[in-house]
Formats: sequence, structure tokens, C-alpha cells
Amino acid sequence: MQEPTSPKPAQTQAVRLARKTQSLDILYEIATSLSQPGSLEQLLDGFLDTFIELVDARAASVRLATADGQTRLIASRGLAPEVLERDRLMPAGGCPCGWAASEGGLRIQRGTAPCAALIGRPMLERDCTEFVVVPVQYQDRILGVYNLFLDRPLAAMGEDMPDLLISVGRHLGLAIEKARLESEARRFAIMEERNIIGNELHDSLAQSLIGMRLQLKLLGESLERKDIGAAQYEATRLRRAMTQANADLRDLLTNYRLKIDEAGLVPTIANLVERFGRETGIEVYFQNDCGALALTPAQEIQVFYILQEALTNIRKHSGAHNVRVLLNNEDDLYTVLIEDDGLGMAGIAENMPVEHAGLAIMRERTERLQGQIVIESEPGEGTRIVLIFNAPPLAGPPAAAVRG
Ligand SMILES: Nc1ncnc2c1ncn2[C@@H]1O[C@H](COP(=O)(O)OP(=O)(O)OP(=O)(O)O)[C@@H](O)[C@H]1O
Ligand SMILES: [Mg+2]
Repeated sequence: MQEPTSPKPAQTQAVRLARKTQSLDILYEIATSLSQPGSLEQLLDGFLDTFIELVDARAASVRLATADGQTRLIASRGLAPEVLERDRLMPAGGCPCGWAASEGGLRIQRGTAPCAALIGRPMLERDCTEFVVVPVQYQDRILGVYNLFLDRPLAAMGEDMPDLLISVGRHLGLAIEKARLESEARRFAIMEERNIIGNELHDSLAQSLIGMRLQLKLLGESLERKDIGAAQYEATRLRRAMTQANADLRDLLTNYRLKIDEAGLVPTIANLVERFGRETGIEVYFQNDCGALALTPAQEIQVFYILQEALTNIRKHSGAHNVRVLLNNEDDLYTVLIEDDGLGMAGIAENMPVEHAGLAIMRERTERLQGQIVIESEPGEGTRIVLIFNAPPLAGPPAAAVRG
């Protein structure tokens, strides 16, 4: 008698190999369709089209688990509009989709009669043979499920098909999570941009308006005194301020930000300080101990606006008689000091109401400089603001990089 042997017939081996290759092809196609750029909607459309074709499904859909324990249909192919309408939100408890979405695991149901009972009408005109539910997973989290409505039973497609479907579910989960993170990042970027625009408005146009209000008050007082010469002088200044405000607004509209005078930061500050002294009558002393400044335009803007807001606060709130503005640097470490001998602050609240935005914006600008700001103030003792930040020398030829 012959020894019983169980060699696999070459034919079976070949079929298995062919199926493995087909599985890899499917995975590759799916991974490719999911890595295309685009919105989540486009991504799911691409996924469903590719997948339906690859496994020859009659229909397919994707559902995501909601925070309140339901599953929500977010994409589908081959289902009638009335079905989609009724199937949009389903409680997670009562069907294979819900079970898979909460517990995981691949589920196979013969036909869709239970689903039809839930939505109150047939899912398909002619029912499918198998309704397959596969979890959509990102790491340990189940995000939802995808469904296949198959005419050919899954078992007939090869024994590694369940593993393949689970693997596709993981690819889909990764793609959905990536799309979610990208949309969150976009939303964050928009909020950040709005915040920046708000800050620019506060520190440029709002400042100009404050200045103009002061000039208008002076103009009114001159008119009351019937001092025509002074009134004409104030009117001219007001006109100039309006022209400047208009130019600021145009700059904001085109660049979102004002540019520092071509001459550089120090002359721009000197100008600001000189105007401040002239307009407020406060004695103001400006000392620049910096050698050559090597700041980027973005850093110059932050420093200028922090300083400008500090001076505006002194003008509005301090009642000071003397102000000192000092700039100095030791190698890469820059210090900006603004000191007044006014009333001081009653308390420096971290969370000022939104209508008091200046100090909060100063802190944000300091963060953008990756620096530190210290505000020291005692009631009646004046206020001292010290900004410290690091700015390594700019790359490029020193002559082009250094501005003073
Ligand atoms: N140099 C200062 N002297 C005295 N008080 C100050 C000084 N700087 C700020 N303050 C106080 O701190 C508060 C907050 O200042 P902040 O710049 O945040 O808001 P604001 O100037 O009132 O409004 P905004 O800057 O939005 O126009 C001021 O309302 C004021 O009471
Ligand atoms: Mg302010």
C-alpha cells in the first residue's frame, strides 16, 4: 500500500498564489485611492468607487460612529435616495453596523432583511447574498464601519479576504483621521490668521483712531476759545493723521501688516517717541544702546507694536510725567524697556476682559518673538515693561542683513 501523503496539488497552490496577489493588488489600489489629496468627501468617493469595482460589490457605504452612540452614513454607492434618507442615522445598539462600530470585528449577514426591517423599506431592489460589515479603525479606536452588499459570498473570494477587509478598514480609518486632523489644522490656521488680523487692527488702525480722537478734542477746545490759528493747526494734523490711517488701512488690506520704515526699526521708534512726546506733553527719553540691529522684518514689527501699545497705554491710563524707552543688546539677547512714573496698575490681570486687549496682544507678540515680557507695577509707583528676546544673527552678507 502506498504511504498516505498530503502534498498540495500544484493547481491549488497556483490558485492561492493568484488570490494572494489579487489581495495585495486590492490593498495597493485602496491605499493609492486613499492617499490622493482632497477633501474627506472626495476621498470616500474615490475609495467606494475603487472598492466596489475591486470586489464586485453591488453597493457599499461608510458609516461613522457619533458621540451620542449612533452611526451616521457619510458616503455610499448604489443605494437609492429614499434608502439613504431613512438610513442616515441609526442607533448603534440594534444591528451589525452598530455592533461592529462599538465592539469591532467583521460581521457577515445573509441578505439585508434585518436592515430593511429597521429602515422600513428594502435596502436594494433585489436583495444581495451577503451584507458585510467591517470596522473602520484608527489605532485602537473604532471610528465606524464600512458595508459591502455582495452577490458573491465572501468565502468564495478566498480565505484571506476577511483579513484583507479588516486591513482596508484600517487604511480607511487612517485616511479619515488624517483628513480630520488636516481640517482641524486648517480651522486652527484660520483662527490664528483672524487673531493676527485682529491684533494688527488693534495696534495700527485703532491706535490711529485714538490719536485722532485726541486731536479732535484739541480742535474742539481751540474752536471754543475761538483760537483760529490753533484750530487750523489741529485741523491740519487731523487731516494728516487721517491720511496716515487711510494708508495704514490700505497696507493692512494688502499685507495684513504694516511695514517698518525703510530706514529701520530704530529711526521708526525714534519717530514714534518724538511724536508721543509732542502730542502728550510727557517728557520722554529714548536711548538706543544697540549696535547694529539684526532683526527680521517680522521681529521688527513685533517689537515696534509692543512698544507702541506700551506708549499708548501710558498716554491713556498712566497720567505719567516722565517716560523712558531703552533699547539694548548683548550679542543675541535684546532688551526693550519702557518705564513711566504714572499711577501704576491696580493689578495686572492675566485675563483682562476682551475690550482690554493691549496687554494680551503684547504677550502674544512676545510669544512670537519667543521672548519674555515682564510687567512690573505698583499703584502710585509707575509701570515698567521689560521685553527680552533672543535673535541670532541673520544669515546672508552682513551688509544686507544689518539694519539700525
Ligand atoms: N502704563 C500704564 N499705567 C497705568 N495703567 C496701565 C498702564 N498700562 C496698562 N494699564 C492698565 O491696564 C489695563 C489693560 O491695558 P490694555 O492695554 O490691555 O487695555 P486697554 O488699554 O484698556 O484697552 P486696549 O489696549 O484694548 O485699547 C488698562 O485698562 C489700564 O487700566
Ligand atoms: Mg491698551
